[in-house]
Amino acid sequence: MTAVHRAMLEAQGPVLQFDRPLLEGETPSHVPVVVNLFGTPERVAAGLGVTLDGLDDLGAFLAALRSPSPPDGLRDALSRWPMLKAALATRPKITKSAPVQNVVFEGADVNLSTLPIQTHWPGDAGPLITWPVVVTRPFGSRAADVGTYNAGVYRAQVLDRNRLIMRWLPHRGGAAHHQSWARQGEKTPVAVVLGADPATLLSAALPLPETVSELTFAGALNGTRPRLVPAKTVPLMVPADAEIVLEGWVSPVETVPEGPFGDHTGYYNPAEPFPVLQVSAVTHRKDPLYLSTYTGRPPDEPAIIGEVFNRLALPTIRAQIPEIHDLWLPPAACSYRMAIISINKRYPGQARRVMMALWGMLPQFSYTKMIVVVDADIDPGNWDDIAWALATRMDPTRDVMLLENTPMDYLDFASPQPGIAGKMGIDATTKIDSETTREWGKVMKTSEEDAAFAADLVARLMQSSGT
Ligand SMILES: Cc1cc2nc3c(=O)[nH]c(=O)nc-3n(C[C@H](O)[C@H](O)[C@H](O)COP(=O)(O)O)c2cc1C
Repeated sequence: MTAVHRAMLEAQGPVLQFDRPLLEGETPSHVPVVVNLFGTPERVAAGLGVTLDGLDDLGAFLAALRSPSPPDGLRDALSRWPMLKAALATRPKITKSAPVQNVVFEGADVNLSTLPIQTHWPGDAGPLITWPVVVTRPFGSRAADVGTYNAGVYRAQVLDRNRLIMRWLPHRGGAAHHQSWARQGEKTPVAVVLGADPATLLSAALPLPETVSELTFAGALNGTRPRLVPAKTVPLMVPADAEIVLEGWVSPVETVPEGPFGDHTGYYNPAEPFPVLQVSAVTHRKDPLYLSTYTGRPPDEPAIIGEVFNRLALPTIRAQIPEIHDLWLPPAACSYRMAIISINKRYPGQARRVMMALWGMLPQFSYTKMIVVVDADIDPGNWDDIAWALATRMDPTRDVMLLENTPMDYLDFASPQPGIAGKMGIDATTKIDSETTREWGKVMKTSEEDAAFAADLVARLMQSSGT
């Protein structure tokens, strides 16, 4: 299934449904598996309620949400999204009965092995839930306080018929909530939502400001009040229209080794200890679908989602570093380990200042090993443009900046030590003023008029020669 999904994703094909997946022991499952939901940027944008062209406006809205007093451009963005802003203030609608609770299994009747949870790669430790929306709230909050909820996508290894591993990395919202309960010696109530609506799935994967609840944000994107229902066995509200919900409690102390699993780096992660969720109930629709995906060396769905999210983040980044013109984080470089930044260059040394600003101010660039800065006439998303800038505007002895002992993703085994590594900045911008004593080359360019004439003539010649 992973191979078929990957081939379909590479072909930029549609969403796939496997009607009769085989469970362990070759028994067919009655629950179909859906994959490739976010297999194209268009579908990711649609999940956010916009077209690809609408992403820039939504990005400006997100920047305005983060900014304490939005600058003029952002204030303008907020004013263009009054509905969304109002929707963020609306309270969810709490229903008494919900499709997601049409079928309920509790206690001894819980059996995760009846769900078609995929084992994706030959070296994987076992079945892995890849699209869970993990819902938690902090200790001391009330179940009705949906504004305090966190929803994050954290992969979950199935241990047996009623136990899962919660792989929330230490800096994630879910991990912070678990800490707050564990400090009191209490178990954390958790709901794992499978097959949430696309806006909820994407909101859970988006790094939203702390002050915005993912569930409310998803409702705002959908243009509706989020419909929630009290869970059956844990004090939490869950999306009423999801396909499946796993409810349970995470021990304050117990951890077990999670993995190895194939990951977005293209390698298997080493096993690491993470907390265990004891499942107290499984609820689902009458005929549920199971949503799945794989993570692996790009392309995978998270890499496509990442490209769309980077476009959404551009206005937020520009609000802090205005000279940034455009940026690209190549999916092939694990979506964050390399960045190409174009700037409107005005003064000597500016490229290095921009690199240091990105590494120093923006947490999402902490693990970006290499930043290449180019001028605004270079398309940062075009390898040919990048290669030309590197070949003609960069000198390795003058334009490369190396840093030592900076933070790094512990998954990067090329780092000399886990969690700490070097960084490289390459200034491939045109050198100006005191940056050079040489006469710099003048860029050759065909006039727009000549280019249009030539394109038209070539098209006509091709047509008349029947090519
Ligand atoms: C398919 C997919 C799988 C993911 N797996 C994990 C994971 O296993 N652990 C993790 O901490 N983050 C994982 N993430 C990233 C988080 O979901 C993402 O950073 C999110 O913004 C975290 O939300 P939070 O800031 O509320 O914790 C995954 C994202 C996607 C799209």
